[in-house]
Amino acid sequence: MAVTRDPAHPATPRSLPSLEETVFTRGSGADLWDAQGRRYTDFVCGYGPVVLGHGHPAVVEEVHRQLQAGTLYPSAGRPLRDFLDVLSGLFPEQPGALLFKTGSEAVGAAMRLARHRTGRDMVLRLGFHGWHDQVISPHVNWHRFDHAERRSVQPLAVPGIYGAAVRVWHGDEVEDLLETVRSTRDLAAVVVDPVELPLPLADSAKRVLEAAHEAGALLVLDETKTCLRLGPGGAQERLGVTADVLVLGKAIANGLPLAVVLTDPALTAQSRRLRIRGTFSNELASVAAASATLRVLREEKVHERLARTGTALIDAVNAALRGEGLGDRICAVPYHWPCMPYLRFRNIAETERMDFYARLVRRGVLLLPNHMNFVSAAHTDAHVEHAVRAVRATVQDMLGDGLLESRGGTRNE
Ligand SMILES: Cc1ncc(COP(=O)(O)O)c(C=O)c1O
Repeated sequence: MAVTRDPAHPATPRSLPSLEETVFTRGSGADLWDAQGRRYTDFVCGYGPVVLGHGHPAVVEEVHRQLQAGTLYPSAGRPLRDFLDVLSGLFPEQPGALLFKTGSEAVGAAMRLARHRTGRDMVLRLGFHGWHDQVISPHVNWHRFDHAERRSVQPLAVPGIYGAAVRVWHGDEVEDLLETVRSTRDLAAVVVDPVELPLPLADSAKRVLEAAHEAGALLVLDETKTCLRLGPGGAQERLGVTADVLVLGKAIANGLPLAVVLTDPALTAQSRRLRIRGTFSNELASVAAASATLRVLREEKVHERLARTGTALIDAVNAALRGEGLGDRICAVPYHWPCMPYLRFRNIAETERMDFYARLVRRGVLLLPNHMNFVSAAHTDAHVEHAVRAVRATVQDMLGDGLLESRGGTRNE
């Protein structure tokens, strides 16, 4: 499908609103539309969940069927049992499962399970694990990647929300991390978002797992972001570790709210007595969405496509930026994996970054600056080309307005 000039994006893009002012009314595949009928190529993908594309027909059909059949039964019910069977096939090392609506809840539950199992209270965390009191990050940047680039929106202080029994690590050296694991008294768990590990990731993951076990603690791998984006086995498989507790979220249900804790069934069997349960724990529309998502991911080899599309976007955006002489100041990189492309700005003030973003939005492309972006199975070469044209035109505009300085590029690159 070739991208032709979209009549919804007229030649005077500055008349269009930026993201904050935009009222979205509809999504389909890799695109969103606003109330004025303007189309946007969406690389935000709900901050990760929309892995197959908006309104994917297989997901819509399953959810619709489940809505008609009822969404809450007094006990697990067939759709949930079938879903759990699929999960235990995918993650045979962690056959016990508990369901939640959000990653924040699931990580909180994982911490409680680890504290119960070890009889200890301390938890060491790496990265952002959600907004609930005990899982919120008390430092300025939620994500460690590029932490030199500070955000202008500072978190508000709230007395008591960063629990005393939670310690946060956000350094760069694995030896320092291992030393922190060894020196933390009464350690129940190390909770790790794999993208926050020191490089090389696989080596760090293995060494943290060993250090946690030597300390008598559990490794909780928080795959809220990474799970079904990287491949059927997620980061756990890619990094070659077996976590004691695995947290899945975001992409598991293509945009419906679902998160899962997977672990030893002897531990999940204690969930009632540990008071880990909520009204919507077994809600079935999300389960139906997840079952359909897992089926499509498997049958259509979506992960290979995500990696290809992410790589194509990164390479083409970089070629365009180099062509404008900006390659050393703005570049696209994989956020460890190309299915999560990251647009990195160096020595460019936040006002200019935000201006860049607003101009891209006005050109009909949602691509976050200094934050991971996401590709979906619905993104085509044409979406990538549309994004690259928008990036090139945006930096040309900003160079023309004196908002960026070029080191001189090769326009025909
Ligand atoms: C690694 C990780 N854990 C937990 C969360 C929280 O998930 P939720 O927003 O579903 O509560 C996030 C959200 O971005 C995340 O990236």
